[in-house]
Amino acid sequence: MIKTFTSFFLLIFWIGLCYAQRSTVYPLITNVYNRSTTLLDGEWHHIIDPYENGYYNYRYEPFDQQTHPWASAFFLNSTPQSPSDLIEYDFDKSPVLTVPGDWNSQKDELLYYEGTVWYKRSFDKVLSEDKRYFLHFGAANYKAEIYLNGAKLGTHIGGFTPFNFEVTDIIKPKDNFLIVKVDNKRLKEGVPTLNTDWWNYGGITRSVQLLELAPTFIRDYSLQLNEDKRLTGEILLDGSNLEGTKVQLQLSELNIQKTFTTNANGIVTFDLPVSKLERWSPQNPKLYDLHITTSEDSLVDKVGLRTITTSGSKLLLNGQPIFLKGISIHEENPLRGGRAHSREDAAQLLDWAQSLGCNFVRLAHYPHSEHMVRLADERGIMVWEENPVYWTIDWENPDTYLNASNQLTELITRDKNRASVIIWSMANETPNLPARNLFLKKLASLARSMDNTRLISAALEQKNHNDDPLTRTIDDPFADHVDVLSFNEYIGWYDGLPEKCRGINWHITQDKPVFISEFGAGAKQGLHGPKENRWTEEYQEALYQETLQMLERVDNLCGLSPWILVDFRSPRRVLPEIQDGWNRKGLLSDEGQKKKAFHVLRKYYDTK
Ligand code: GCU
Repeated sequence: MIKTFTSFFLLIFWIGLCYAQRSTVYPLITNVYNRSTTLLDGEWHHIIDPYENGYYNYRYEPFDQQTHPWASAFFLNSTPQSPSDLIEYDFDKSPVLTVPGDWNSQKDELLYYEGTVWYKRSFDKVLSEDKRYFLHFGAANYKAEIYLNGAKLGTHIGGFTPFNFEVTDIIKPKDNFLIVKVDNKRLKEGVPTLNTDWWNYGGITRSVQLLELAPTFIRDYSLQLNEDKRLTGEILLDGSNLEGTKVQLQLSELNIQKTFTTNANGIVTFDLPVSKLERWSPQNPKLYDLHITTSEDSLVDKVGLRTITTSGSKLLLNGQPIFLKGISIHEENPLRGGRAHSREDAAQLLDWAQSLGCNFVRLAHYPHSEHMVRLADERGIMVWEENPVYWTIDWENPDTYLNASNQLTELITRDKNRASVIIWSMANETPNLPARNLFLKKLASLARSMDNTRLISAALEQKNHNDDPLTRTIDDPFADHVDVLSFNEYIGWYDGLPEKCRGINWHITQDKPVFISEFGAGAKQGLHGPKENRWTEEYQEALYQETLQMLERVDNLCGLSPWILVDFRSPRRVLPEIQDGWNRKGLLSDEGQKKKAFHVLRKYYDTK
């Protein structure tokens, strides 16, 4: 069951306090999908500011930490008051970028840019005395500092999760100016850190919305089916006079309509019997209309109800063994270019995955948009979501842990009611070190404290068993803290040639389901030749054929998500005429063309 909001709420408050000097966001408001909002997407003026001249004075002191910042502080949106005034910027005469969207794919000069870009848009809003107003951002990569009408709302760190700020006392009916400083510089202490194998798309990469809410509104809620076939969850109100408020929960199709009364923290907790339930599954992605109502607010959602558990080495969906016919996906639309952000982008990626015969997608290596998981709910596709604790993070830095825990908290808060999400992944390919083991163990505990209705995993370390180069095993202390043993293996690509798979055996002793989270090979679509020739489609095809035969020898195999659905941009991949800035391990080219290996995996999934 989702644990009580009380502990969760206090945890958030504590993280917020710890983040006070860094990330001062308001507790996340969920399900903005179905709330009264004004979309602030579209063309925003922007200023490219690699020296952060709009943020620091010449002594490198932040303008927004001064009582009387100079007019040259960009967040003031200063304009000359007299012909003699010196103002060296003008947003309204500056070019525009489209929001949502990364800047790299919108301007040639920004393709490789890593640094600060300022965004600005103005808006009017007819205000109501009895409403509260919030600005909600779907994501901004990597560090965002938000200002409204010259006042600093706060800072958010993390490029893939939502955040919001209350603006009730700052917003005006006319001429509001919203200014956002986004800095996508990679940082050693960041999450992810300096080194990744994907494009560092910067910008306001998901929608911006102005929420108009009741003085006391429904801020968050959880609804889960537990193993005893009971509906459990909580509803959290936000506002004044929280205690003693009536809250109605309704699932008409299940003949459920109950009224509860909030406690002193504005929380109701429920645990209800349910009958005649159609459980959510790939075969029947049943979603129920959920209505939550108070005297001041009402909210709707569509929720699937299912259980995902393990029993020894079995992975069970609704109590029945399930095999995850998966594929890994980066959040990128190669046809348009850039970070995927729209429902149409999500539909394109899931269309490709379903054409491959998939019932599962591994959303690498960071939280994808809410469109993706809501579409997966509708289509009956199970989902692995991942916190971007990738490769060699700064494990001993407490701020890095707070950052990682904050991003994980925002992910689980946003998606805890999505039936499609079955696995929370703590990390990818991280080294087996004491500091890392503690870091991940704490993250796993945090995830379970927020939601123990889903499974925990991570791409673990594997190595030769007893120094035998032909027998592999999982050698990773974090294996004791996950529900599903996952690992990436590249035998035949980084480790020998495809035929090496024939001699490999797997010795996995933990009594848990085993999932192969990555294998693959690069191929330039349309390049053909003998299968011994690296980068031919025939080489990639042979790798898939050899690997799939090898994986049949893995005991307790519960599924796989080969690397990767479609070629994706990476600054690490520079081989002329083959890579040219793209990782070519896709089963589809960056133009959506199928490679020969696509058909090998499709045929394999047809047998499952
Ligand atoms: C790693 C990593 C991926 C990377 C892939 C590759 O396993 O998880 O992010 O892109 O290998 O080398 O292509």
